[in-house]
Amino acid sequence: MCDKIHYHKINVGIIGFGTVGSGTAHLLLENSAIIKSRVGIPINLAKIADIDITTDRGVNVPKEILTTNADEIIEDPNIQIVVETVGGCGFAKDIIIKAIKAGKNVVTANKELIAKHGKELLPLAKEYGVDFMFEASVGGGIPIIGPLKTSLAGNKILEIIGIVNGTTNYILTEMKEKGADFEKVLSVAQAMGYAEANPTADVDGFDATYKLAILSSIAYNSRADYEGIYREGIRNIGIEDIKYAEEMGYVIKLLAISNEVEGKIQGRVHPTLVPKSHPLASVNGVMNAIYIKANGVQESMYFGPGAGSVATGSAIVGDIIESARNVIANNTSRIPCKCISYKPMASIDDLSCKNYIRMKAKDLPGCISRISGIFAKNDVSLESIIQKFTESGYATIIWLTHEAPEKLINKSLEEIDALDVVEKISNRIRVL
Ligand code: HSE
Repeated sequence: MCDKIHYHKINVGIIGFGTVGSGTAHLLLENSAIIKSRVGIPINLAKIADIDITTDRGVNVPKEILTTNADEIIEDPNIQIVVETVGGCGFAKDIIIKAIKAGKNVVTANKELIAKHGKELLPLAKEYGVDFMFEASVGGGIPIIGPLKTSLAGNKILEIIGIVNGTTNYILTEMKEKGADFEKVLSVAQAMGYAEANPTADVDGFDATYKLAILSSIAYNSRADYEGIYREGIRNIGIEDIKYAEEMGYVIKLLAISNEVEGKIQGRVHPTLVPKSHPLASVNGVMNAIYIKANGVQESMYFGPGAGSVATGSAIVGDIIESARNVIANNTSRIPCKCISYKPMASIDDLSCKNYIRMKAKDLPGCISRISGIFAKNDVSLESIIQKFTESGYATIIWLTHEAPEKLINKSLEEIDALDVVEKISNRIRVL
């Protein structure tokens, strides 16, 4: 039996002193006494590496712990836990691999890296017997990965429905509240620093797709390939859609949804009409929430700030503390990757749901009956229709279908689009 190592403190190194790294440093320093009381020994912020160590990050760290050389952290035998807050899949991946191979426990917020390379990194961490923790990768400060791995581990997870991207939730909320269109709200969000200069990762749904892949892999015990997740962003959402949805009793949210269908994982990220009575409907602004259906607890929802320096730092520090406890107990890698089975990703074509469809048609006798005839022919049943006259000679028609298979909706829309009375199918949004 190995001798138990007795630690007097746990040393942490942070690589990446940007928004999340500085929030992590802030919390480690600000709450050092309370953290010590919870862990039993101090958690010491030993080193911080960044290519830029001169910019003021708003955190009062001793100058001597700053370095431009990440290897000083990875190769320091006195550092037990390495925090990666660089982002991306290049340098971040390299340093994580080096840190794992050097026997360090790793904590990261890097959702793109986990979604794309978790399948290599998690087994590597297991092989080297180190912790690899990433609570901050989904939902910023919201505890969700921990609950899925521990508190909900006795449940079969039936469905995950999340608002996991703060930028798009902010844009959709502002569009609804201010009546402003997508482009205008996006440029204000960019000016305020809520949206990136290149907003693609957020507004086109990539960020939410990575996060859904991570949650689904844990929930369904199988690697959920992010490339198999259907993805649609919010660029096509018009202010009219938000208004008509409201009239029909819905709000529009970018949802990340997954469940298991006949041994496959169905994952999808798309704008969705959410009934106003659903708990996710009132999650506004930059806030995130993840709603989980499970066979034991039934329904639960996890709500909080999905991004932000100290909020995301909170999730990272939680992981650091958990990892420190493992180090003290000489018991790391207790909860390694749980992707114990292989479940393929289901196609969006396997989906059956209600749909909202907005179109512009000529204001002519028989127009509605020709369109509804196509829905009827394709076995798509209709729940409600709204007709508005906003332009002379034309009508805006909004259809709400009953639940119908994706293929039949698509076939109907193709045939409707070919009708001479139909000017344009402006939007089609799935309904929760
Ligand atoms: N860009 C993300 C968002 C935050 O807008 O929610 C980091 O995951």
